[in-house]
Amino acid sequence: MNVLLLGSGGREHALAWALSASPLLTRLFCAPGNAGIAEVAQCIPLDLADHDSIIQFCRDERIALVVIGPEAPLVAGLSDALEDSGIRAFGPTKNAAKLEGSKGFTKDLCRTANIPTAAYGRFMDLAAAKTYLASQSVPIVVKADGLAAGKGVIIAETRADADAAVEACLSGAFGSAGAEIVIEEFLVGEEASFFALCDGVTALALASAQDHKRVGDGDTGPNTGGMGAYSPAPIMTAEMTERVMTEIILPTVKEMAARGTPFKGVLFAGLMITATGPKLIEYNVRFGDPETQVLMMRLKSDLLAALLATTDGVLANFDIRWREDAALTVVMAANGYPGTPEKGTEIKGLDLAKAVPNVEIFHAGTRREGDRIISDGGRVLNVTGRGRTVREARDAAYTAIAKIDWPGGFYRKDIGWRALERAES
Ligand code: AMP
Ligand code: GLY
Repeated sequence: MNVLLLGSGGREHALAWALSASPLLTRLFCAPGNAGIAEVAQCIPLDLADHDSIIQFCRDERIALVVIGPEAPLVAGLSDALEDSGIRAFGPTKNAAKLEGSKGFTKDLCRTANIPTAAYGRFMDLAAAKTYLASQSVPIVVKADGLAAGKGVIIAETRADADAAVEACLSGAFGSAGAEIVIEEFLVGEEASFFALCDGVTALALASAQDHKRVGDGDTGPNTGGMGAYSPAPIMTAEMTERVMTEIILPTVKEMAARGTPFKGVLFAGLMITATGPKLIEYNVRFGDPETQVLMMRLKSDLLAALLATTDGVLANFDIRWREDAALTVVMAANGYPGTPEKGTEIKGLDLAKAVPNVEIFHAGTRREGDRIISDGGRVLNVTGRGRTVREARDAAYTAIAKIDWPGGFYRKDIGWRALERAES
C-alpha cells in the first residue's frame, strides 16, 4: 500500500525509517519532509494547513493511510477532513485532539474520570485568577490553555512571579493560546514519557522513554522541545506501567468514547511519578519528539501493521514486540536554539558518523544543497545509538557525534545521566 507521512522533524524521520521497513509498504511519501527523510521516502511540498490539496494528492497517488506527525494539523481537524473523504488517517479527530489542544479540557476530563493529576483552576478573568493564586502555595504552575509550541508553561517560584505570569498570559503573551489559563499545583517527582496506541475502545502500551527538556547540561537553562531521550525509562517498571494503564490511559479512552469523541491514534502522557504514584502532567495526541527516535530503534514489530490495527479498531488482537536493547538519542541543535537558531550552516562528517555500528542518524531540521547538508531549523540532528545497556547506547551515540563536523551546532553531553546513575549506584 501507499502511505503519506506528514511532518518534517526527527520524529517523522524515525517513523519514515520504520515504515519503510514494512513488508506492507509499496510507496512512502512524506510532506514536507527533510534531507534525511528523502533517503527513505519521496518528499513532496504540500502545505499541511491546506486540507484540500492533501486530499487531492491522496486521491492521485492512491494513498491507503495518512500518518499525521505533528499536533497542529490534528487540532485543526485534518484527520476529520481525510476521514470525510474516505481516506484512512492515523491520528485523532479534532474533538479528540482537544486532549492536547486545551489543557483545561484535559484537566476537567481528569476530574470527571477520577484520573490522578495536579490540583488546578481554570481562568479567563484576571481578578479571579489572582484570588485563586492568593489561596495557593508556591512554587505553582501557570499554563496557557492552548497550543503554544511548548512555551506556554511557567513554573513560578514566588507569588510575585506567579502574579506576573498570570498577567502576561491573560494579556496576550502567548496570543490566543493564553486567553484562558490553567493554574496548577507543582508536582514533585521524576518525569517519564508514556505512549499508548488507542483504537477508540482499547489501548496498547508502547515502550517508555525519558526526555531531557532543558537546553543545558545538568538540566539547566530554558526549556526546549527535548534535547535527548532514552528508552526504556527505568522508573517505568512493569508495575508502574500497569498502574498508568489502569489509572490514567484506560479511563481516558473510556471517557472519550462515552462522550462520543473516541480517541484513535497515539496518546502520549507526560507523567510525574510522585511518592504516591503516577500523575498526569499533560497529554499530547501524537508521538513524542525525540522519544519516537528511541522507540523506533527498539521496535521489532511492523510499525505500519500497528498503525493500521489502531485505525481499524482491532488493537485488542494485536501484539507488539520490542528489542531487549536500550536506545538513546542526542539532539544536535543549531547555535541560538531554543531562541532564534542560526540557519544555513553546513554539516560535514555524516557518512563517517553513520558508519558507527548500532547508530542511526535521524534528521530533524536539514535540507540538501547539491551534495551538502545544510541546517534548517532549531533541532537539526538526532544521533541515536542502540546497545545492551543505556551506557552502550550512549557510547554509540557519542562516538558518532564525535565524527560530525558542525561548528554551527551544539548538544548536551549528559543525555541519560539519570538512568546511568540508577544503573551504576
Ligand atoms: P508541559 O508543556 O505541560 O509538558 O510542561 C513542560 C514542563 O513543565 C514539564 O515537562 C514539567 O517539567 C513542567 N511541569 C508542567 N506542569 C508541572 C507541574 N504541575 N508540576 C511540576 N512540573 C510541571
Ligand atoms: N518531547 C516532548 C514532546 O514531544 O512534546
